[in-house]
Amino acid sequence: MKVTIFGTGYVGLVTGACLAEMGNHVVCVDIDEAKVEGLKKGVIPIYEPGLEPIVKRNHAAGQLDFTTDPASAIAHGELIFIAVGTPPDEDGSADLKYVLAVARTIGQHLDRYAVVVNKSTVPVGTADKVRDAITEVLKGRDAGIEFDVVSNPEFLKEGDAVEDCLRPDRIVVGSSSERAVGRLRKLYAPFNRNHDRMVVMDERSAELTKYAANAMLATKISFMNEIANIAERVGADVELVRQGIGSDPRIGYHFIYPGAGYGGSCFPKDVQALERIARAHDYDARLLAMVEAVNHTQKTRLFAQIQRHFNGNIAGKTIALWGLAFKPNTDDMREAPSRRLIEALWDAGAKVRAYDPEAREETQRIYGERADLVLCEKPYEALDGADVLALVTEWKAFRSPDFGRIKAALKEPAIFDGRNLYDPQVVEDAGLAYYGIGRGRSLQR
Ligand code: UDX
Repeated sequence: MKVTIFGTGYVGLVTGACLAEMGNHVVCVDIDEAKVEGLKKGVIPIYEPGLEPIVKRNHAAGQLDFTTDPASAIAHGELIFIAVGTPPDEDGSADLKYVLAVARTIGQHLDRYAVVVNKSTVPVGTADKVRDAITEVLKGRDAGIEFDVVSNPEFLKEGDAVEDCLRPDRIVVGSSSERAVGRLRKLYAPFNRNHDRMVVMDERSAELTKYAANAMLATKISFMNEIANIAERVGADVELVRQGIGSDPRIGYHFIYPGAGYGGSCFPKDVQALERIARAHDYDARLLAMVEAVNHTQKTRLFAQIQRHFNGNIAGKTIALWGLAFKPNTDDMREAPSRRLIEALWDAGAKVRAYDPEAREETQRIYGERADLVLCEKPYEALDGADVLALVTEWKAFRSPDFGRIKAALKEPAIFDGRNLYDPQVVEDAGLAYYGIGRGRSLQR
């Protein structure tokens, strides 16, 4: 099918590449000329495993193209996706200015029936707003052209985006138009391995589904972090508790890993936005507010432990950091717990030496050159001259380190394990102090 996608961010680019891979003719539109020129040459603006080869292959094969010209792109698509950003505005609500600007552009150039598909995570009721925005512009043009607006939220995870997109566990389509649903059925037919993965519903339910999914996952994490904090105080090990509860299929093992708090472009923003949506409809979503509050505090846990370890005297210390990205397999630093830790350490007068396999450049871009931040090329380089080590992101490269080497390199051998990656006994047997999240012994010391 002929597909147009507005926005070449995470969602737009991955969706475009995957739809091209499935045999569609895809045109991606972006206002950023440098980005579009780069994409044409195979320069991928984000780090996402498996994305580069499919972008390059499909571009070379003529299945995937990039442009800054909305008119030709709108003329191309039977399906026009909106996958532009919805950043939080000052009060935490999702800002629709980019989405509605694209809607008006579609209204200006549409010349036959098309299905407009909302991929961005948007407040409930946005499909109606997009429909109204297009209709208004069409009226101004005196053009009696029909179109439908569909809500088709994206559930991909950074780091697994290509895989998630090519093998979705569900495809949520919100539309009351059979004609539009028919087009999406055709588009997604190749993704329906073994059974029909498409769940068709009304627009508002589809919009809420996206928020509900992310809020549920964020709730699981904050819940587990709460249990971890209790475990620490009562002398229990949350890692054993996690296994003990995960074995119940009603609870499950996924997303119950305690840690340094959730980050990324979705959970923090979406939990907040859903809370605002509820408030705008006169409902006080107390649980969501607490999920957010618990996460906010959790991001200070590692710093609090380090501070306690040094009896409050952090000034002049050098802390080695392993991991900067908000999670492994991405260079994304948005809302990353590492940022809160780094900033708290700086405020307390400490220096940071950090290593991350992919996020060094992004970290440099955010903080610039400073004397109290050294970004290292190799994991062990970060330990040179450092007092202690804090692990913030659970990259595979950090799974089984040489604890003897870590001990020898650190001035005051201690590991602050923000992801409970290590066995406390193994670390302690190697002669290092171990601090984890919610592991009773951390507090006992
Ligand atoms: C998330 C959703 O998973 C995805 O479906 C949605 O489309 C976008 O938001 P993403 O932000 O890429 O995806 O990351 P995810 O893997 O979900 O992790 C989010 C954060 O939660 C990370 O900071 C991660 O470290 C943290 N996390 C995750 C935990 O702290 N504990 C867990 O058990 C799981």
